[in-house]
Amino acid sequence: MSEEEKEIVVKIKRFSKEKGSWWQEYKLKVDRFTQMTEVLRRIKTEQDPTLAYRASCHMAVCGSCGMKINGEPRLACKTLALDMVRKYGKNEITIEPMDFFPVTKDLVVDWTDFYNRMFKVKPRLYPSKEVLEGKAEHRLKPEDQRELWKFEQCIWCGLCVSACPSVKNDPEFLGPAAHAKGYRFLADPRDTIFDERLKILIDSAWRCTYCYQCFNVCPRDIEPVTTIKKTRAYTKFLREKTPVALTGEKHAEAIVKSIEESGKIEEAKVYISTYGLLTAITDMIYAMQNGKLRYALVTQKKVKDMEQIRKIMGE
Ligand code: SF4
Ligand code: SF4
Ligand code: FES
Repeated sequence: MSEEEKEIVVKIKRFSKEKGSWWQEYKLKVDRFTQMTEVLRRIKTEQDPTLAYRASCHMAVCGSCGMKINGEPRLACKTLALDMVRKYGKNEITIEPMDFFPVTKDLVVDWTDFYNRMFKVKPRLYPSKEVLEGKAEHRLKPEDQRELWKFEQCIWCGLCVSACPSVKNDPEFLGPAAHAKGYRFLADPRDTIFDERLKILIDSAWRCTYCYQCFNVCPRDIEPVTTIKKTRAYTKFLREKTPVALTGEKHAEAIVKSIEESGKIEEAKVYISTYGLLTAITDMIYAMQNGKLRYALVTQKKVKDMEQIRKIMGE
């Protein structure tokens, strides 16, 4: 074995409809250039042709190779085997299918639900009639392009959805990838279905819990959570306000008021202003029963230089 080569053990979580799931081990030599897609390709071609996985571009463009590597949602092609060995201090690497997606076979998952969510947000530009008839040209200004550029880079890899706790618990939530795509067109001045898009996106945007998991795992630095924040800011343009949108607006006002008064977000006060005293008391009883009340009743230190904060808020 050359100095640069290392033998690693790869433990793959296999699945078939007939046999259920099991772990299987493979050994192979890798060097500093070996991507995890190459690891899988060599296992399949040299050791076990029954292994199923998806990959195509091998350069973080097609979005096919999302999976969990040592428990982290990652693109296999953007992950070097030896980086994982170094990071975890052992030459054993585990590979599992992405969470949330139903498994079809081994590392291959069913994308139906993901695509349904993406298509719900109408993921294409709806230009004006004049543009479609070739009678006009609608150019993007550089400042609009700067706003949209980052969010256009989504490769539909699904990693953010696999990591999102809200998607798993809330069937009404569209999920981070659909929000990133939805905002990309909501903020596009060339699009003609702004009101329809708002209606599709606003309620769902208020269902995100801001846990930032999507931000952490996105291989293209899209920041889906940022698109959700930006979408929430559009709530004021919604023509027919829904109960969720109204609560969302109350929440935003309560946060501004809290910062103006105390220089910080006083969670308990914000909660009461948003949901009302009755709901707050009911939730407090629930928190007490589950040993969480002490987190809600933390004594806050006073903020110095309130004048500075009010000045910033007034700007
Ligand atoms: S920040 Fe929101 S969208 Fe992102 S993972 Fe958390 S709940 Fe999901
Ligand atoms: S936002 Fe990022 S993680 Fe989510 S599907 Fe798009 S590229 Fe993948
Ligand atoms: S193989 Fe295309 S993104 Fe990994």
